[in-house]
Order: sequence, then structure tokens, then C-alpha cells
Amino acid sequence: MKPGIAVTLQAKKLHKLFAAEIAGIDMRSDTDARSVAALIAALNDYAVCVVPHEVPLSNDEHIAFSALLGPMERNKVPNIAGTGQRVLHSEIVDQSNLDGDGNIYADDDRRLMYKRANRLWHTDMSFYDIRATWSLLSAHMVPPEGGETEFSDMRAVYDDLPDAMKTRLDGLVAEHSYWHSRVLGGGPEPSAAERATRPLARHRLVHKHPGSGRKVLYIASHVSGIVGWPDDEAKGLLAELMGLATQPPYIYSHVWSVGEVLIWDNLATMHRATPFDDQQFVRDMRRTTCRERAP
Ligand SMILES: [Fe+2]
Repeated sequence: MKPGIAVTLQAKKLHKLFAAEIAGIDMRSDTDARSVAALIAALNDYAVCVVPHEVPLSNDEHIAFSALLGPMERNKVPNIAGTGQRVLHSEIVDQSNLDGDGNIYADDDRRLMYKRANRLWHTDMSFYDIRATWSLLSAHMVPPEGGETEFSDMRAVYDDLPDAMKTRLDGLVAEHSYWHSRVLGGGPEPSAAERATRPLARHRLVHKHPGSGRKVLYIASHVSGIVGWPDDEAKGLLAELMGLATQPPYIYSHVWSVGEVLIWDNLATMHRATPFDDQQFVRDMRRTTCRERAP
């Protein structure tokens, strides 16, 4: 490649609003600043980018590329009783249904019950003060059916809100709690010690995306309330917004192939995993997460 020539990536659009498969970048070798800038430009445009690879990235390769996109989340595994780590890299969140010995979790394992909260619409780490920017999810093993990841384009959702709703949302601040979504997803009530590992965070319901300048509705199953609002009123508005945001025209559903890395923008989308037979099949997905700034 000639110095000074901008890198051009080929994007194949996967949905009429957003999401694209990207050709022309290998996350193992294309680690120069111009390749990374081109990928970030694509992410600001498409919000969800699929980067295929013949063979899954190693954990080290996955971490090394992620670090080029911004400060990374490191080992904030919530202290759930009995947690044994299978992937011993503090930057990687193990999103599999496997325990520390590589066996499928029992149906009633607390860790699996909490993981099932990923089947609710959410955006990663909104329960932190310093929000997640990009998540990079790498497919190592996928089940024969189910286990897709669905995304909603929250920029388009905002654009389409009625003006009266846009006015109503202006200036509102939501409270995000990790444990709120765990319990909503069918997990057990956390102990006081567990709860203390992740206190709630407050974020505006609407923000201007730093990369694209587009306005975004920023909600998730982690939202437990609206600052200054009575509970039932907040619940009503949040349910209405969640209903609007998850209508089929806004959704792209990704059917995984081994070796793919999906990079999505948490400040522009929501996502959820669809169910699969997690007692019969292995789904081995590993995630790194970049943050708005270093904690
Ligand atoms: Fe997630």
C-alpha cells in the first residue's frame, strides 16, 4: 500500500438502514492507522460491521485489534457465587454457555441464568458511568440453530419518533442498573454483596453520537427508571419507547458463521441474542469491549 493513500474497504449492506459486511480488512494483519480509521468510518456509518475470517481470531489477536479502537474494559466480572473463568484474559468477556472446565452449564446454574438476560434488548455496559463504545464479538462455535444476534438501529428509531415525543424526551436522564436486567431476564435476586459490585449509572435518554453527529435514543433493558419521575410513569414511557425501538423495520438479525467478528456501536444500537438449546449445543462467543475513555 502506498503511503498517504486512504484505505478503502468494501461494504456490503445487510439491511436497508444499517449493518454491513466488510471486505478488505483482516484484523490480524491490517492494524495500521489508516485501516483502523477506515473501519471506524464504516462503523460510524453502518453501526454494525461484520468482519469475516477463515479461522477465529486467537484471544491475543482479538485483544490486540480491539485495543486499536479505544480504551478497553478489563476484568469487571461481577462477583457471582461459584464463578470459575474459562477464558483467562481480563479483556475478554466469555459469552459462552461453558463453565471453567469447558462443560455446558447446568440449566439452573446462576451464571447461566444471568447470561440469559442477554436475550433482552440492551446495549452493553450502559450501567457504567463510562459507557461502552464498540463491542467486538468473535464466533468460535455456533449452535446449528438459534443463537442469532439481533440489532436495532437507534439512530433511525430516534429520527422516526413523533416531534411531540422528541420534545418530551429532551433533557430526560435514565438510570441504568446491571441487576435490573439480570432479574428481568429471569435471574435470581442478587445478594447485597453482588449488588454492590455494580451500582447504577445515569445517562441522557437521547444523545448526539460523537462519530456521526446523529441523535440516538439510548435505552436498554438495564434502564430501571427516569430521574425525577414516579416509577409507574417511567415504566410506561420506557415500555412505549422499547416497543417503538424493536419494531421489525429497525431490526437486523445476524446468523453467525464461525470466524466472524461482529463489531457494533453501543452508542448507536441495541442488541439481543435469540434463544438456542443451551443444554444441548455449545455457543462459544467471546467479546471485548471498548469504552468512551479509560476508567
Ligand atoms: Fe450484549
